[in-house]
Amino acid sequence: MTDVQLNPESPAPTESIPVPGPLRLRDMRDITRNIPRYLSALRDQHGPLVRVPMGKSDAFLVSDFDVVQDVIIASSRRFDKDAEKTGPGPDDWGSSLERVLGKGLVTSVGTYHRRQRRLIQPVFHRRRIAGYGTAFASIADEFSGTFRDGVRLNFHESMYELALGMVTRTLFDVSLESEAAESIRSAFPREGGPLRWELSPIGKVLLRLPLPANRKFKRGLKTVDDIVYGMIDERRQGPGDGDDLLSVLLHVTDADTGEHLTDEELRDEAMTLLMAGHETSSGSLTWTYYLLGTNPEIREKMHAELDEVLGDRLPTVEDLPRLTYTDAVYSEALRLFPPAWVLVRRALEDYTANGYHIPRNSAVMVSPFVLHRDKTWWPEPERFAPQRFLEGTDDADPLAGHARAQGRPKLAYLPFGAGPRQCIGNVFAQMEGVLALATLSRHWEFEPVGDAPDRVASDFTLQPRGGLDMIPHRRR
Ligand code: HEM
Repeated sequence: MTDVQLNPESPAPTESIPVPGPLRLRDMRDITRNIPRYLSALRDQHGPLVRVPMGKSDAFLVSDFDVVQDVIIASSRRFDKDAEKTGPGPDDWGSSLERVLGKGLVTSVGTYHRRQRRLIQPVFHRRRIAGYGTAFASIADEFSGTFRDGVRLNFHESMYELALGMVTRTLFDVSLESEAAESIRSAFPREGGPLRWELSPIGKVLLRLPLPANRKFKRGLKTVDDIVYGMIDERRQGPGDGDDLLSVLLHVTDADTGEHLTDEELRDEAMTLLMAGHETSSGSLTWTYYLLGTNPEIREKMHAELDEVLGDRLPTVEDLPRLTYTDAVYSEALRLFPPAWVLVRRALEDYTANGYHIPRNSAVMVSPFVLHRDKTWWPEPERFAPQRFLEGTDDADPLAGHARAQGRPKLAYLPFGAGPRQCIGNVFAQMEGVLALATLSRHWEFEPVGDAPDRVASDFTLQPRGGLDMIPHRRR
């Protein structure tokens, strides 16, 4: 049993961990429409540690910063990624996420994960990723040619295609309209399908049935597998001077053993980057434009910055230090709608921190969505206010720069997680998001259609359920 005394001033005995009362049937509908909001309400009602009974074992929602820091950073070896959800399944079938991603960074655990992470980390060095800046902007520019002035579109679907296009280009060096990019796009349907079923209580059964959706999924997976193995082969035969992520991964060498990644390891990591790199970014761009569409003053301010810094040209990585407002817009959208809205861990042993007792095998949930709404650190938490991330902008505005102020808990803002499982693509994602935003907004603004989306898909990442329609308007 581990007993970490983090803050002896404020021990909270185990018995005091609140448990929400039984759910009424009529509450269930609201909860399933928006689980992140439900967790946020639990935190507001019951405090920084809540025990949520869940079948055989309990889940603990942790929002105390000391405990969060201990679970995901300091004592992270006493916790693992939730094995049932992301790791090897309870039987030989495995989880469908694992069947897609294999033993890539997202799904692997323990010493194997640590080794892979150590090998792959340098590939994501800021200087290397900066080399993709031109590709991010030119793909977004090419993509903006698909918008029609005044013609409503499923904007979420659109951002999904853009994000997938950006990651396929940087990973495999293929263009948006190439056959490979098209096959990858059609292999993974945006909504529905077995990947989504996995988390339902009867998901494992559904996955075994000879349903058309399962057959489609398996066909899709085989198609992408063939493409990825084909590309690995091509690069092994070729001159070896490519700078796409797959080519760079091919040359990764273990300094201790001199070993390289095997074809299977390369396939798993490529598939992982493909999935982790578009599922998240497509959501964050969609939410950013939704927020800009409903906050015209902020949108105008961002346009003024873009017009001044860029004039008529495409943005580059060198422009980023001057696109501070655009960067703040994206950071603030990631605060309100963090795509990875919950990080789930499983306690590998009994654990006590600050007097809180968490039994072995319990799931521990750390939710960026909940932490980003903590009123102590985020005044007016529901307000979209990019100035939070801008220092020295307006002394009269209490929100200006507060997210960057000294003395705040670092983990009050964690859209990319923290510790050994922190997003390896964080630099990539922020650069890609800001450059895409800057490129698309040079000529276009988007008007949301209908009410605020109150239903979210939150099984893997936070997305507006059923899409989000917008009307593009040409601005210049
Ligand atoms: C706005 C975009 C993104 C957000 C908000 C995001 C967020 C996250 C978060 C919170 C985690 C940690 C999960 C945990 O601790 O359980 C994570 C992990 C990961 N992300 Fe991202 N991500 C984004 C984009 C990307 C991109 C573009 C890539 C790759 C090109 C990527 C690759 C990964 C990988 C491989 C992991 C697993 C790392 C590990 O466990 O070692 N992500 N991401």
